[in-house]
Amino acid sequence: MTTPLLDIHLTGADADAALRADARAGLVAVPKRLPPKWFYDARGSELFEEITELPEYFPTRTERALLERSADSIAVLSGADTLVELGSGSSAKTRLLLDAFRRAGSLRRYVPQDVSETALRPAMDALAVEYPGLELHGVVGDFTAHLGRLPARGRRIVAFLGGTIGNLLPAERAEFLTGLRTALRPGEQFLLGTGLVTDPDLLVAAYDDSAGVTAEFNRNVLRVLNRELGADFDIDAFAHKALWDPDHEWIEMRLVAGRAMTVTLPAVDMTVRFAAGEEMCTEVSAKFRLPGVRALLADAGFDTIRSWTDQQERMALTLATAV
Ligand code: SAH
Ligand code: AVI
Repeated sequence: MTTPLLDIHLTGADADAALRADARAGLVAVPKRLPPKWFYDARGSELFEEITELPEYFPTRTERALLERSADSIAVLSGADTLVELGSGSSAKTRLLLDAFRRAGSLRRYVPQDVSETALRPAMDALAVEYPGLELHGVVGDFTAHLGRLPARGRRIVAFLGGTIGNLLPAERAEFLTGLRTALRPGEQFLLGTGLVTDPDLLVAAYDDSAGVTAEFNRNVLRVLNRELGADFDIDAFAHKALWDPDHEWIEMRLVAGRAMTVTLPAVDMTVRFAAGEEMCTEVSAKFRLPGVRALLADAGFDTIRSWTDQQERMALTLATAV
């Protein structure tokens, strides 16, 4: 078994400073907002895995089915020997790509990158056992900040699955794509998973499940602030809300204050007031149309090679080359 490498591009101290900066900016903004990357402590990563199993949450199983159908073609079209994955989480669906690249005879190395070390480590430990001989080089890092430091060895394909690109705001998304293009050499590839615009009722149900798992996931960001910043959010006093914004074509998740509240955050020396019914945005999950995906990629310097969608056109995988 090859010993996995783990690079830390985001130390505990960096994460702490970034969380403080995001809390300082987001809790004085109107409306208040927090970036979704803070959902993913150990509990948040577990809750996300639970979400992927929910009957209402179709994106994961739809993308898995798409990968089952397309992974061999992707591997053959790509010919890469290094699979880099951004926001890899549990790497559950990645096995379909690893197997296909192995069948194609080119696979040497897997480079999972995630902000959550508690998700990354067990995923790598499991892969080290399942894929003896595969070089594993994990990176604890932020894909909005550390793309320039991705390991450069091999002929790379970068996968960004699950529709996670939709969790970036439009300006962040454009910056991410140009940053990724700059980090790649011409001819290297990008495999992008996107949610597609579909029936709003179906989408809202996917983000507001009947078992309340997504609500717990949403409220988890308050637990993170309580633990990391010594804040005193009364977590049960916030309700989960998911709505479809037809203008932006995204789902927006919010936390709604059930009563007027004053919250203190000693680590950032802040006192924040919430009015009864006040809504704080914790995540957008943008859905796309295929021509829009191609345009976004082209604007950043990628040529689309091919896209795959499921029959109901709810998710897409798009393979592109850095030009
Ligand atoms: N790719 C997996 C997991 C998606 S969940 C799938 O398709 O199922 C989103 C993942 O991205 C989580 O593991 C989370 O920890 C990670 N993540 C969120 N924001 C991030 C950021 N800014 N940089 C790196 N990883 C991030
Ligand atoms: C990680 N990301 C693609 C998920 C999504 O669907 O936007 C996060 C999530 N939020 C609520 N449920 C799942």
